[in-house]
Amino acid sequence: MNTKEKLLELFENNKGTFLSGEEIAGRLDISRTAVWKAVNALRSDGYSIDAVQNRGYALSPETDKLSLQGIRKYLAPECTGLDIRLFSELESTNTTVRGLASDGAPEGVVVISGSQTGGRGRRGRSFYSPSDTGIYMSLLLRPSFLSAKEALFLTTMAAVAICEAIEKVSGKNALIKWVNDIFVNDKKVCGILTEASFGLEADSLEYAVLGLGINVCAPSGGFPEEIRDIAGAVFDSPEADAKNRLAAEVLNRFMSYYGSRDITGYVEEYRRRSLVIGREVLVMAPDGPKPAVALDVDNECRLKVRYPDETVESLHSGEISIKLTRG
Ligand code: BTN
Repeated sequence: MNTKEKLLELFENNKGTFLSGEEIAGRLDISRTAVWKAVNALRSDGYSIDAVQNRGYALSPETDKLSLQGIRKYLAPECTGLDIRLFSELESTNTTVRGLASDGAPEGVVVISGSQTGGRGRRGRSFYSPSDTGIYMSLLLRPSFLSAKEALFLTTMAAVAICEAIEKVSGKNALIKWVNDIFVNDKKVCGILTEASFGLEADSLEYAVLGLGINVCAPSGGFPEEIRDIAGAVFDSPEADAKNRLAAEVLNRFMSYYGSRDITGYVEEYRRRSLVIGREVLVMAPDGPKPAVALDVDNECRLKVRYPDETVESLHSGEISIKLTRG
């Protein structure tokens, strides 16, 4: 860690508490001038640092800026071994992690970015990823306990973990629109994109990149016109330390499910949080949209639907998507 990173760690661990220049210099074993330079360097990185004569410096308690030091503060002991890398801007965290994976990076690399210039969603769509209002994160997983066909379970496991994290940090109820969208107050606040690389042996999974984008608060000018009706954010306005807490909590919850290697234990919770069960939906089939009623999600995370002619079908997420047709 360089001086700036050490100072940020000290500030994060004493958020809102003033530390004198002398005390900081002593704790980091650096000169007062070096303290002053590091404070300025953190300010130019966008951290809000209060300075008061005779009291010293403090990281403003309202700060909501992603930092490794801030995320680590909230990580469960089982997650401290994760190799988390933070960037202010990337094209796509999934693309970065895929590159690292094909270069042989081990499981547990996590790439987080404050913005993306080419964020990707499912079905070739883009994912709006403006700076400072969201968390864009990808995890590299090499799950020896999952076959290629079972890679979908990573998405559904993550959906439950993200709902739980949102609920813990915001107190708001988070629900899942099958298969990979998270809704709060009827607006999509998070999407998940899992990309898998398959091994040479039949049905083997070489690695998976689990990518998720959470709208933590709404961008200042609102969401772009084309997604305004559907997109929402977890918080209405910036919230102290929300991004660091949420990023850490998502990792805590996900790694707890993933570490248990139980690929059905969370499905009951997935079902409980379903936004679609019991509702009318449009099944976006290759031959056009078909109205149906969503009946259930089975243990393979397929969505069971009933069509007006009373036929029942279990949908696989890879083939089909759905739209909610009414509230
Ligand atoms: C969707 O809503 O269709 C899925 C969106 C997934 C977005 C996340 S943001 C982090 C990661 N990097 C990407 O390019 N996409 C995923």
